Amino acid sequence: MTKILILFAHPALEKSRVQAALLPAIKGMQGVTLHDLYEVYPDLNIDVRHEQSLLLQHDIILFQHPFYWYSAPAMIKQWQDLVLEHGWAYGSTGTALRGKRIGNIITTGGQESSYGKEGWNHHSVEDFLLPFKQTATLCNMQYMPPYIIYGTLRITPSLIQEEVVAYRRMLEELRDGKSLTQ
Ligand SMILES: Cc1cc2nc3c(=O)[nH]c(=O)nc-3n(C[C@H](O)[C@H](O)[C@H](O)COP(=O)(O)O)c2cc1C
Repeated sequence: MTKILILFAHPALEKSRVQAALLPAIKGMQGVTLHDLYEVYPDLNIDVRHEQSLLLQHDIILFQHPFYWYSAPAMIKQWQDLVLEHGWAYGSTGTALRGKRIGNIITTGGQESSYGKEGWNHHSVEDFLLPFKQTATLCNMQYMPPYIIYGTLRITPSLIQEEVVAYRRMLEELRDGKSLTQ
């Protein structure tokens, strides 16, 4: 069974509608480790050795977060800056993550139509995620297509429930050997 690590980051989970609805659907799910970074490190004081050890124990790493300023909440950057050490994750001796897969699970406020060349954001979410992709490449990891839930600002409760079901199914398929697609 493929082992999945979800590095979850939402700095205001108490106000969340969508991400907060997704989490209960995977609590205790076999093969999936949910790691809530703001809960474990409220002061951003990340335990680097613990994070590296978690990475080694999993095959697929997924950053799960709301899309903030075309990127991720600050915790994810802090995690990257501290955990992906030279000589461990990259560099001539940095081979710890070689061959693992990595990706993003994202909720956006903007509708799907607002992204891409024709949209008012002018670029796709995939374009904005280029630093994640290149970071994966530098670490000899395979970057997967992002899983995106668009348009969360106006999403209805029944659509949220549909997204919860689809999200759990996506993780089950990934765990059981299928690819990360929507
Ligand atoms: C600081 C901040 C920055 C945001 N930046 C973006 C953005 O760049 N693009 C976008 O589509 N939505 C943006 N949003 C909207 C959030 O992505 C959206 O509210 C969130 O994904 C909804 O999920 P939740 O209900 O779990 O909080 C931003 C929200 C905040 C608070």
